[in-house]
Amino acid sequence: MKIVYPGSFDPITYGHLDVIRRCSMKFDEVVVAVLENNNKKTLFSLAERKSLIEESVEELENVKVDTFSGLLVDYVAQNQFDFVIRGLRSVSDFEYEFQMALVNHQLDAFTETLFMVTSSRHSYLSSSIVKEVASFDGNVDLMVPSHVSMALKNKFQKGE
Ligand SMILES: Nc1ncnc2c1ncn2[C@@H]1O[C@H](COP(=O)(O)OP(=O)(O)OP(=O)(O)O)[C@@H](O)[C@H]1O
Ligand SMILES: [Mg+2]
Repeated sequence: MKIVYPGSFDPITYGHLDVIRRCSMKFDEVVVAVLENNNKKTLFSLAERKSLIEESVEELENVKVDTFSGLLVDYVAQNQFDFVIRGLRSVSDFEYEFQMALVNHQLDAFTETLFMVTSSRHSYLSSSIVKEVASFDGNVDLMVPSHVSMALKNKFQKGE
């Protein structure tokens, strides 16, 4: 089975990577799909987000990285994914994710969403919190791979 894991990944964290690794053990093919959303200002460009993920999943042979824009259901239909995977960290994630899954299912009844519950040691992690810590030059080594931590340092140094 072929699944898609969509998100902004601005930038990828160990929380995302945990979901990707666990999916790669259960499904034949995992496509991490980076959303190009012109309405959401991101720290990293689409190309940067994609390449940071590529470097993180190098050793996982059945994981590919792609980008998409527009409606997720259209991207799913074009690529014939069996499932959309989303991660759940908290009750607050649930409300939003539940709504998105219902909307997507209403837009296209063939789009089915599966939820993977976070590992407890990653439950506090989000791209936003990583960016906040990094912006104050805090240590993010337990939150993201070293190449991502370097990229964050470069971004925030340039911004100063
Ligand atoms: N630590 C984590 N454990 C499990 N799932 C996660 C974790 N972090 C993010 N996810 C899930 O990954 C998917 C993509 O998330 P997204 O790109 O919005 O990352 P994010 O960390 O939530 O970033 P942001 O803080 O910008 O919202 C979502 O389904 C989200 O719930
Ligand atoms: Mg999020």
